[in-house]
Amino acid sequence: MNPYLQLSGVNKTFGDFTALDRIDLDIEQGEFVTFLGPSGSGKTTTLMIIAGFEDATRGAITIGGHSLAGLAPQERNIGIVFQNYALFPHKTAAENVYFPLQMRGVKKAAGLAKAEEMLDLVGLKGFAHRYPKELSGGQQQRVALARALVFEPDLLLLDEPLGALDKNLREQMQIEIKRIQKRLGVTTIFVTHDQTEAMSMSDRIVVFSDGNIEQAGAPLDIYHRPSTRFVADFIGESNLLDAVVTDAEARVAECPALGSVVFGAEGQPPVVDGQEVALLIRPEHLKLSRDPKEGRMNAKMVIDTIVNYGDNALVIGHRGDTQIRVRVPGADVVILKEGEECHFSWTEDAAFVLDR
Ligand SMILES: Nc1ncnc2c1ncn2[C@@H]1O[C@H](COP(=O)(O)OP(=O)(O)OP(=O)(O)O)[C@@H](O)[C@H]1O
Ligand SMILES: [Mg+2]
Repeated sequence: MNPYLQLSGVNKTFGDFTALDRIDLDIEQGEFVTFLGPSGSGKTTTLMIIAGFEDATRGAITIGGHSLAGLAPQERNIGIVFQNYALFPHKTAAENVYFPLQMRGVKKAAGLAKAEEMLDLVGLKGFAHRYPKELSGGQQQRVALARALVFEPDLLLLDEPLGALDKNLREQMQIEIKRIQKRLGVTTIFVTHDQTEAMSMSDRIVVFSDGNIEQAGAPLDIYHRPSTRFVADFIGESNLLDAVVTDAEARVAECPALGSVVFGAEGQPPVVDGQEVALLIRPEHLKLSRDPKEGRMNAKMVIDTIVNYGDNALVIGHRGDTQIRVRVPGADVVILKEGEECHFSWTEDAAFVLDR
């Protein structure tokens, strides 16, 4: 594998605070990679270092095998969109998009023509002569995106570009950004702390925690095979129950909350007898019923709370001291009531174990 963008041992300290511990990351050409992680975990700092607005304390970054060391931001050929990366208010949409071309010595007529082409691509045909204040939030973000792409950057960096938009517009822009990125084939890093956004948009997700990369992988890999408890908790909802492996060969663990459980999920990393693990079963893999379900593992719980979302419901219950969360399709929940005892059931392939 020949990585296009390569971060090797990137470390960043502010005084005695370590913002990035030791970041090693390879990104392929044309890949859409999302940085996901809680506030303060180092996502923006990593982008700032790649873009050249911050220097790494240690470590190296290369694009296409060439070191970025010593290059100023404008010498890096990187397109950037930040959440509040404001447009020039006194320039029209087309002039805003032309600006980076102007900086690169492109003549006005040719540059504005190219800018209009870019505005078409982001869905703003006919908006070239509007000023930013005459555009909606979503339209302004499209102009910012066009401005970041117009000079055919080697790399596109998007730091929570959709944070200020309402839900519908946000979803629309997610689809648009993916479409444009695919069409241009530009290597892209997208930062978000919205996990559904990360799941739906990315070729690969990089999960940050406390200045470290917890896990990097394809969205479904990360979802179904989290490598740490932090990732299991952070991505999606989870039931994480303490257990001890009693028969590694047969994949059996003893779980105080559920008894003997077979963990048969695909791609299960190896474990050893006696290993203390966390047993992961996603809430949507549990079914609720009045009677035990044949052909499935069953246990009883008491329902404490039902939260209705319309198309689905989250049922929170307990079994002894253990809280159990179940996602059920909206229509299924009507037969169940808070305070009621019921069965929850799962199949072996829904159970996965990870290090505690
Ligand atoms: N210039 C600075 N001086 C001191 N500390 C900083 C500086 N910039 C960032 N930090 C710290 O580095 C850590 C990582 O910050 P960063 O902005 O990368 O987080 P983030 O993952 O982007 O978070 P968010 O999701 O809130 O945007 C934080 O604890 C932050 O306070
Ligand atoms: Mg940030």
